[in-house]
Amino acid sequence: MIVGNVINSNRQIENTGSVGGVEILYDNTNQRVKGWIRNTDLSTLVLRDEHDLRRLEEEVLDAMALCSSSNGTRVTLRVLAENPGLIQNTGLSIEGIVPLTSGRYQGISIVYLGWNDESRLSRQEYFAEQQTALNRVTSLERRNSLREVPAGYSIEELVSPTPQDVSQVIDLMHEAYSRDGRLLMWYTPTHKAVRKVLNDSVCYIAREYSGKIVSMTAAERAENVMIGGKNVAVYEASDGATLREHRGKGLLQSCLARLLCDPRIQKADSIYAEARIAHTPILRAMHNAGFQNYGVIRNHCLIGGDRDLLEDQDIETLVIFALPRYEKCS
Ligand SMILES: CC(C)(COP(=O)(O)OP(=O)(O)OC[C@H]1O[C@@H](n2cnc3c(N)ncnc32)[C@H](O)[C@@H]1OP(=O)(O)O)[C@@H](O)C(=O)NCCC(=O)NCCS
Repeated sequence: MIVGNVINSNRQIENTGSVGGVEILYDNTNQRVKGWIRNTDLSTLVLRDEHDLRRLEEEVLDAMALCSSSNGTRVTLRVLAENPGLIQNTGLSIEGIVPLTSGRYQGISIVYLGWNDESRLSRQEYFAEQQTALNRVTSLERRNSLREVPAGYSIEELVSPTPQDVSQVIDLMHEAYSRDGRLLMWYTPTHKAVRKVLNDSVCYIAREYSGKIVSMTAAERAENVMIGGKNVAVYEASDGATLREHRGKGLLQSCLARLLCDPRIQKADSIYAEARIAHTPILRAMHNAGFQNYGVIRNHCLIGGDRDLLEDQDIETLVIFALPRYEKCS
């Protein structure tokens, strides 16, 4: 989930909505410490040997201490690794492993490490049901991801959004991410924050013929993830939303199909998404688009919206989806 990057002196993030840097910080909205593991010179660590593992352990200890001093309930860290098998007994679990797929960085993966306080976890029987439902969806035959655009709509890239576009996206967020009349989001969708997310992302939208934005998805590139001094192009597809009366027509999947054919995404080293496990439509849409399940991040962030599976927390569990390879677009 895309989360912001304004930092105060206590290593706390004020959520603005953009994906932010790699620094390990406390994210108050989501009650968690998050970041990427770095070397002492602040370059991104690529875990290859025992020496790298010592550095990882130092960073984990620092993150756990920050979590404790901030009264947080989760630590979520990412590390680039050639050898994830080295990671043992750090106090964090490996929650997912996403390979870099462009071929430029053969054998290197993004490893998700996590720890949750018990108080944060959903009821175990709900989680078990959610995993069963996920397996059911991902065992279905995929429907073609390069979808035809439903009649009555147009799909376009949102470039240089007008103030009206930003307002319509905010309305869309409010409808899609509310539950029982409460907006629950991993950041506060102010005009400024949403404009920043849109400007920093590769964003595709569906408009109905009146021009109104009714569906969207956006992919934002993670900043400052580097290997050998070069920026790695890691994108997170996020902010998937469709107004309720336009759902079930394939609009999100049409936006996703266009997004995945965008030249920046086609050239990316990795494109992943973190999708709500308790909301079957997003699981179906990701599966149809060719994404595969690389892990589960339990009770990861604050997120609302309809759910068709039982869940007792507003801080929900997400599925790590990533594209194992790119479909060529004509
Ligand atoms: C998730 C969301 C964006 C999907 O938008 P959409 O435009 O309706 O999606 P699409 O029509 O492209 O695809 C939805 C898929 O789920 C299926 N679906 C819809 N409702 C379903 C349900 N209750 N149970 C099972 N499948 C369902 C659809 O049939 C379709 O799959 P198919 O093409 O194999 O038939 C929309 O439901 C939404 O805004 N949800 C709230 C916000 C949210 O949770 N976003 C995701 C955050 S990770």
